[in-house]
Amino acid sequence: MPGSLNNKVAIVTGSAQGIGKAIALKLAGADANIVVTDTNVEGIEQTANEIKSLGRKTIAVRCNVADGKEVDELLKKTQEAFSTIDILVNNAGITRDNLLIRMDEKDWDIVLSVNLKGSFLVTKAVTPVMMRRRYGRIVNVASVVGLMGNAGQVNYAASKGGLIAFTKSVAKELASRNITCNAVAPGFIETPMTGKLPEKVKESYIKAIPLNRFGSADDVANVILFLASEDSGYITGQVIGVDGGMFMR
Ligand SMILES: NC(=O)c1ccc[n+]([C@@H]2O[C@H](COP(=O)([O-])OP(=O)(O)OC[C@H]3O[C@@H](n4cnc5c(N)ncnc54)[C@H](O)[C@@H]3O)[C@@H](O)[C@H]2O)c1
Repeated sequence: MPGSLNNKVAIVTGSAQGIGKAIALKLAGADANIVVTDTNVEGIEQTANEIKSLGRKTIAVRCNVADGKEVDELLKKTQEAFSTIDILVNNAGITRDNLLIRMDEKDWDIVLSVNLKGSFLVTKAVTPVMMRRRYGRIVNVASVVGLMGNAGQVNYAASKGGLIAFTKSVAKELASRNITCNAVAPGFIETPMTGKLPEKVKESYIKAIPLNRFGSADDVANVILFLASEDSGYITGQVIGVDGGMFMR
């Protein structure tokens, strides 16, 4: 859908690398202007340079989404640069995997804090702008694990399951203002996050994927482009699996 975002302004959290970077480049390729934000400063500058070379406007802002003050600052810088916000993609996320009996309280807290509270803080911050304009597209990057559960990921699965419930609730609250809120639930996608998995574990995961391969960051970005566009205006509160058929409802 080249050109379909027609100068809209999008914030993409966690866009220094991986799926977030692919989303930022995909939206820019459809003529959106992008706020690239992450805790990784080198990475956001690299993504922003690639966006500039596509001829789009962009700013790179360092922000930890789990910190309310930093999120307020992100909003301020976005408003100064672009005066508006049309699209938010809550993509920043982390894992701290371990079996339940071995999981530290701090590994529970940080995963819930980044993946769930971070999405709450950024969504809350952009909502008044979108409400005033009576337009908005919010897309949350959840996970198939938030639907199915996964041994060794009680913290991560709870954060993504919570994000799905958050998505549906936001969709109900904001629908009357013409703001949609949807989630994507990726399966196993080739990124630095899954690069850490041992080969044996990867092989066992592929056996559970009907399409018989890991997905690419672009597979996820393609769906997010649609959910971020005007074309998806009658879709809200939905969870779209991008998982090669791993989980069928
Ligand atoms: N890779 C997969 O297989 C997969 C599957 C399902 C869902 N996801 C989700 O997709 C999203 C992106 O994952 P990825 O695979 O690209 O991971 P990644 O680790 O490659 O990228 C995540 C990005 O988020 C940033 N980040 C981490 N903590 C942050 C914070 N507190 N504030 C701001 N930015 C922060 C990181 O610096 C990094 O750039 C995550 O939400 C992840 O849970 C990934």
